Amino acid sequence: MVSANNKKTISKASPHTIKKFELIETYIKSWAQILMQNEKCNGLIFIDCMCNSGIYQDDYGNLVEGTPIRVAKALRDVARRYEDKQIFLYLNDNDAMKINELRKHLPDDERNISTITLIGDANNLLERIGPRLTPEGHFNYFLLYDPYNASIDWNALLPFFGNWGEVMINHAVLDPVRAIFSAKKKAAIKKYENTYLTDFEKLVPFGSDKNAYEARVEEIIKLLKGNRRYYVAAFPFYNSQNSQMYNLIHCTSNKAGFVLYKNCAWKVFGGKSSAKRGTENSYQLALDENGNITVPTDESCFYIKDIAKYLYDSFKKQKNVRLEQMWKLLEEHPVFPSEGFKKEIKKELFEVYGVSKKQIINTNTGKKEIVLSFL
Ligand SMILES: C[S@@+](CC[C@H](N)C(=O)[O-])C[C@H]1O[C@@H](n2cnc3c(N)ncnc32)[C@H](O)[C@@H]1O
Repeated sequence: MVSANNKKTISKASPHTIKKFELIETYIKSWAQILMQNEKCNGLIFIDCMCNSGIYQDDYGNLVEGTPIRVAKALRDVARRYEDKQIFLYLNDNDAMKINELRKHLPDDERNISTITLIGDANNLLERIGPRLTPEGHFNYFLLYDPYNASIDWNALLPFFGNWGEVMINHAVLDPVRAIFSAKKKAAIKKYENTYLTDFEKLVPFGSDKNAYEARVEEIIKLLKGNRRYYVAAFPFYNSQNSQMYNLIHCTSNKAGFVLYKNCAWKVFGGKSSAKRGTENSYQLALDENGNITVPTDESCFYIKDIAKYLYDSFKKQKNVRLEQMWKLLEEHPVFPSEGFKKEIKKELFEVYGVSKKQIINTNTGKKEIVLSFL
């Protein structure tokens, strides 16, 4: 069901929605910059297939720009720096009033950047664009699939799980958690069956277990990506009542994109993995029966302390651990960032875990190097 707020041309954006805009904007700025520097890339295609009007009101009545306008402005700046490359934006919504509002706020096209605004069904649009994506053009695409509720058409998304692109899906997990039990109408039942590719009778036992829905979406993405090495990172978004509204899932075959998304999310959330409240004070460290440090962890909101604990457990009893080894390990982690918080992570390792550092001469390069001892 679409709420009254969602029907408005200029709807209200809660703080968690504004965080979502910030995360996508931050990511796209760096993503575009990295790809444009690659001489094999001829240009970029950004698609927000459910883009809304681009203009919102925050809790205080101030106007706030949404993703399509933020991204259009950011990509215009990138296009000006890379004049030999082309950028296309496809911005679509099935509400004509929203697209008409959006058109008033978009920056003008320039020689090497064009914005195509469309009114229609997102899945129909993707079914038209999807089969035309070919690697030969050397264009990199980013598809944002951002419905209000748990409504995902995997058939339309399938072609976008290819090599040259990235897909970001908003999985509105609060929808089934709250409403699966009350779904009686055919349309509601069909929506959940399509989103989770599971018969309704098998979905009902998921009940209000959000982990079950999240795991099912991950399973579906695994099926879609086939045998290729693929990277998926998801960050949860919490509302002011501290309920998880959705997960913003980033899917790519490009490791650099995966690493960048995690780094951007931690930056936007201010040194943690979500805006969930209530775990800040649970910072009491304790010792277990073997004398090891234990850290209370909330997997829906990790902090720097959790990264330090992970590194400490990974390198325990080792000496001469190169800093690069630690950052490489974090690159592979599904949630932790490998850039942006190095100083804070090292401080935690030194002060809480008694890790020490020293300088050695690397026997291969003959150069001085800092190493850590986890003895
Ligand atoms: C969560 S908002 C999108 C927000 C936008 N991506 C942003 O970040 O600023 C969802 C939008 O999807 C639109 N929508 C819902 N179902 C759609 C569909 N099947 N096809 C096209 N648009 C749809 C709604 O009108 C609404 O404007």
